[in-house]
Amino acid sequence: MIRIRGVTKEYDRRQILRGIDLSVDPGEMVFLTGPSGAGKTTLLRLLYAAERPTQGEIWVAGSRVDTLARSELPHLRRKIGVIFQDFKLLRRKTVLENVTFVLRVHGIPLREAHRRAYKVLKRLGLHHRQSALPESLSGGEQQRVAIARALVYQPRLILADEPTGNLDADLASELLSLLCDINYQGATVVLATHDHALLESLPARTLVLRRGGIDYDGMWPP
Ligand SMILES: Nc1ncnc2c1ncn2[C@@H]1O[C@H](COP(=O)(O)OP(=O)(O)OP(=O)(O)O)[C@@H](O)[C@H]1O
Ligand SMILES: [Mg+2]
Repeated sequence: MIRIRGVTKEYDRRQILRGIDLSVDPGEMVFLTGPSGAGKTTLLRLLYAAERPTQGEIWVAGSRVDTLARSELPHLRRKIGVIFQDFKLLRRKTVLENVTFVLRVHGIPLREAHRRAYKVLKRLGLHHRQSALPESLSGGEQQRVAIARALVYQPRLILADEPTGNLDADLASELLSLLCDINYQGATVVLATHDHALLESLPARTLVLRRGGIDYDGMWPP
């Protein structure tokens, strides 16, 4: 699902990632951790083609991403569900409209879009708020709307950057079990976090990024 060869990323001649090699198979669930500033977000942004590497090659879901033409971006992103911390909900649209928006843009009929959105919102415990506007939701509820929006497309790959940042411990573990379910159904999940409780709560392949390299790649807890 993901293959990275010799990837280096520099900002202003400062090396953030140096010579990263990494493979993630379809259906894997991988945690990405390491100190603040280690490059976790940068690595996820490279996978999503929001940034290009300074050197190296990246393949995601069958596409060569580091040289991807702009015109091919939508095709790639349709296969990836992204949960980033600075999620932006559409302020004037309801919860349901926020979740169905992308489906509608891609021509999915309204009834089918509603059916799919309702199903995801229900799993996230938000179906009773489907007519609410984002401003009337709590931070954790807003984050779950953003998560629903990323999952409604049934992506084969989910990239999550600190997805539990605004959630209390109960909601964080609820989200983790949802991602596990989705992973169990076949999606590949890469989750960046420095939430130790989250990392300890589920044995999984864990990558530790440190000083621009992968310092550890194995099961955690060991
Ligand atoms: N657009 C940019 N321009 C210049 N420097 C950048 C840019 N984006 C990130 N950086 C730098 O790259 C380094 C890695 O940042 P990144 O956000 O990937 O770290 P992180 O591991 O996600 O950290 P955190 O745990 O705090 O989220 C940081 O030193 C950051 O300042
Ligand atoms: Mg980050």
